[in-house]
Amino acid sequence: MCGIVGYTGKRKALGILLSGLQSLEYRGYDSAGISLKTKSGIETVKTKGKVIDLISLIAESRLDTSAKIGIGHTRWATHGKPSTENAHPHFTEAVSVVHNGIIENYRSIEKFLNNKGISRKTDTDTETIALLIDHYLKASLDFKNAFFESVKKLKGSFAIVALSKDFDYLMLAKHESPLVIGISEGETFIASDVSAMIEYTNNFIFLEDGDVALVDRDRITIFNEKLEETKRNTVQINWSKEKAQKGGYKHFMLKEIAEEDEAVRNTIQSRIDENGRILLDDEIKLDKEFLKNIDRITVVACGTSFYAGLTAKPILEKFTGVKVDVEIGSEFRYYDYLYSKNNLFLAISQSGETADTKEPLKMAKKRGIKTLSIVNVKESAIARLSDSCIYTLAGPEISVASTKAFTSQLAVLFMLAFYISQLKGKREAFEAAKKLLKIPSLIKQTFDLTEKTIKELADKYYKYQNFLYLGRGICFPLALEGALKLKEISYIHAEGYPAGEMKHGPIALIDENTPSVVVAHPKEPLYSKSISNCEEIKSRHGKIILVSSRKSTIVDDIIEVPEVDYDFAPFIYIIPLQLFAYHVAYLRGNDIDQPRNLAKSVTVE
Ligand code: AGP
Repeated sequence: MCGIVGYTGKRKALGILLSGLQSLEYRGYDSAGISLKTKSGIETVKTKGKVIDLISLIAESRLDTSAKIGIGHTRWATHGKPSTENAHPHFTEAVSVVHNGIIENYRSIEKFLNNKGISRKTDTDTETIALLIDHYLKASLDFKNAFFESVKKLKGSFAIVALSKDFDYLMLAKHESPLVIGISEGETFIASDVSAMIEYTNNFIFLEDGDVALVDRDRITIFNEKLEETKRNTVQINWSKEKAQKGGYKHFMLKEIAEEDEAVRNTIQSRIDENGRILLDDEIKLDKEFLKNIDRITVVACGTSFYAGLTAKPILEKFTGVKVDVEIGSEFRYYDYLYSKNNLFLAISQSGETADTKEPLKMAKKRGIKTLSIVNVKESAIARLSDSCIYTLAGPEISVASTKAFTSQLAVLFMLAFYISQLKGKREAFEAAKKLLKIPSLIKQTFDLTEKTIKELADKYYKYQNFLYLGRGICFPLALEGALKLKEISYIHAEGYPAGEMKHGPIALIDENTPSVVVAHPKEPLYSKSISNCEEIKSRHGKIILVSSRKSTIVDDIIEVPEVDYDFAPFIYIIPLQLFAYHVAYLRGNDIDQPRNLAKSVTVE
C-alpha cells in the first residue's frame, strides 16, 4: 500500500518527510521519493528500493535541504513496474505530485493531453495528474484553480498532494483513499496515515471523499466536491506510533479485515477495464495459445491459501471449462501426480515462501509443467520460481491469521478464470468481471453491517470449547476457512464440514455444548437443505449461528449479510467468519496477531 507525506511550516521539511516515510514502511512498498520547493524551484530525489536508499541518494545529491515545504511518497507498484522512473513524485518544471490509488480514466486524460502535444514519460497513471495541473498553470490559472480543473477530470480512487514551484501552499484531493492533515502551531503536516505525523501533533483533520484542500503553514481551506468552502472537524488522537500503524485498531488482524475492501480494490482495479476486459496480458508470461488449450489446472497451496483455491475451483471450472484439482502442498509433494498433457500448475501463497508449496512447484518445473503463482510478497521465492506470477496487491499482511490475502487471492483467481474465458471468446466473462468491480464496496458494507452483531455473538459464544462449521456448495470451503480462523487464534477446536455430511458421523458431536456456524447463501436447493441440517442440529439441542442474507426462524442467532450473486458469495460471507474468530479470540485474551505455535510463513517442512 502506498504512503504519502507532506509538510509546510517553520522547520526544514526534509527530515520530517523522511521520518514520515519511515513510519509508513510497514505498509510495504518498492520505491520512494521526495520533492522540495527550494529557491531554485522544485527539486526531486526518488529511487527504486527503500527509504534508506533514498536517504543515501539525497546525501550524495546537491539538494537544497533548507526548504520548508515538500512532499514524499512510498510506492507499491500497481500501474507500471517498480522503477526509479515510475517512483513518485511525478513532476514537471512547475509542479510535483504524489498519489495513492488508481486513476481509472487516465487513458482518456492522456488522449486529452496528447491532443495538446503533451505526453507521458513514464507508464504510471499518476504522471497524467502532474501533466494536467501543469497544462492549466500554463493556461494562466493560479495553482489552486489549476488543481481544481485537474481534479474535476479525475475518476477512480485517489489521495493526491501537489507542490507548486511558484506558490507557497500545497493542494490536496481525496477520494476513496485516505488523506489526513496534521495541525500544529505554525506548521501543517499531511499523510495518508496518522502514524507518519503522530510524533509531531495529536490534532488531525480527516478529509472526506470529494474534498479538496489548500494547505499552508497556518491556513487550511477545505472545499467540498462542488468546490464550495466547507468545514471538517479537528479530531484529537493520542496514539502511540505502533497503535497508529494499526490504524487505531487493537490488532493488525482487525485492521486487515477492515481494509479488505481496499486490498481487493487495489488488486482488481488496474486489471479490469470499464468493459470488463481482464488486463493481465503484461503480467501473465505464458503463451496465450497454451492458456487457451490447457486441459487441467492443478492448484497447490496450504492453509488459507488452499481454501482460497478450493473456493475458486467452481468458478475456474465454470469459466475455463477445464478440470481443476486443488491439492494440499504437504501431501502433493509426496504423491506421484498424473499430470495431463496441457497441465497448468497454479501455486497460491501469501508469503511466497511456504516450503510445502514451493517444493511441489519445483517438482512440477522439473517435469516441464508450466507454472503460474498467485503471491502477495513481491520477489518472494515462489514468485521468482514460477514461470509467471500474478501479485495480490493486498499490501503486507502482518497478522499471522490470513484475511485480506484470502479475499485478494480469490479476486486474482476469479480474474484468471475470466481472463482464460475471454481468451476463448466467451462473452459472459466480461459481464462477470464487471460484477467483480462492485465487490470491494460490498465487502465494506458487510464489515460495517455485521461487526456490531458479531461482537455481541462473540460475547455469547466465546466460552464454548468446540464448534462445527457447516456449508454446502461454494459455502463449504468457507466453512473450512472459518473453522481454521477460529482454531488458529482462539485455540477452540472447530471443524469445517460439508453440511450434507452431518448425518454420516459428525451429528454425534451435537449437543448443547457444541454450537454450529452454518454458512448458507439463499440459492436453492442448497439453502433449504442447509436449513434442514439446522433442524437436525436443533432437535439435538445444538445452538446455531446462521450466516446468510436470508433469515430463518429456527436458528438461535443470525449474522445477516448483504445480498450477493452466488458465485461472488465467498467475498462477502467470509467477512463475518473472520470477524467472529477475531472477537472470540479477543474475549479469550489471546495474542491475536502472534498466536501460539504459529508463524506467518512456514518456510520449513
Ligand atoms: C492462515 O491464516 C494461516 N496463517 C496459514 O494456514 C497460512 O495460510 C499457510 O501457512 C499458507 O501460507 P502462505 O499463504 O504464505 O503460503
